[in-house]
Amino acid sequence: MTAAIISGKQVSDEIRISIAREVAELTERGVKPGLAVVLVGEDPASQVYVRNKEKSCIELGFHSEVHRLDAATSQEDLLALVADLNGRDDIDGILVQLPLPKHIEEKAVINAISVEKDVDGFHPVNVGNLVIGDDSLLPCTPAGVIELIKRTGTDISGKHAVVIGRSNIVGKPVSLLLQRENATVTMCHSRTANMAELSRQADILVVAIGRANFIDASFVKPGAVVIDVGMNRLDTGKLAGDVDYESAREVAGFITPVPGGVGPMTITMLMSNTLIAAKRRHG
Ligand code: GUN
Repeated sequence: MTAAIISGKQVSDEIRISIAREVAELTERGVKPGLAVVLVGEDPASQVYVRNKEKSCIELGFHSEVHRLDAATSQEDLLALVADLNGRDDIDGILVQLPLPKHIEEKAVINAISVEKDVDGFHPVNVGNLVIGDDSLLPCTPAGVIELIKRTGTDISGKHAVVIGRSNIVGKPVSLLLQRENATVTMCHSRTANMAELSRQADILVVAIGRANFIDASFVKPGAVVIDVGMNRLDTGKLAGDVDYESAREVAGFITPVPGGVGPMTITMLMSNTLIAAKRRHG
């Protein structure tokens, strides 16, 4: 059996159509949703991410502004900018691109962003609300993962989901969202014994470990839904996921490609969060 490919690009395009429609309706009512992105320094990958976020905002009709700050910007000045954005009525979402230069404490900056405008879902109050199942702005990549699983037509409830990787931005929140959908969740990480054995029990397998092509067919239950969150740059310059796609697709029922799987969903979920924040703020 060869797996059906889950096109994150296609799902993302579908969601974007409905976001753009809602943004247009709000704009007509005089409330144009706005996202402010803050980039400190010149990290090349961050520059690409920020440009893509700006492009998506414009395509979908959001007000977009990017604050590009010098790498030597002080923490105090960055916090002052965040405070200013928190107070502005025309800004619904604030995203400070990570990583920040070493002299700035990321936690202090994340904690300073207004909970209502934290479209990354990284603020401890939003993380706490996710844990206890209250309404919060969900972190973008995990929200995108759940959306992709649902689009396969899979009923998550009662399924055994195995999450490989326990990062704060993917593994942990994905496991919480899967539990919220009534999956039985097993977490695996670098110290897990018998990882392949556990992984082979997964009806739904989510991989976010940051190791190129680590998960091959021997980790996959026949027919499983395999979601690859990995994005690794090989020496050849090519992008590779954490899943050995060619091997795993011979066993899986559904699989995401890299690129074109989870990646496009992350920015779309950011746009969705900005719209949600705008609707909550303006009723
Ligand atoms: N850097 C890499 N991914 C992300 C993300 O999702 N949010 C922010 N703020 N920075 C990032």
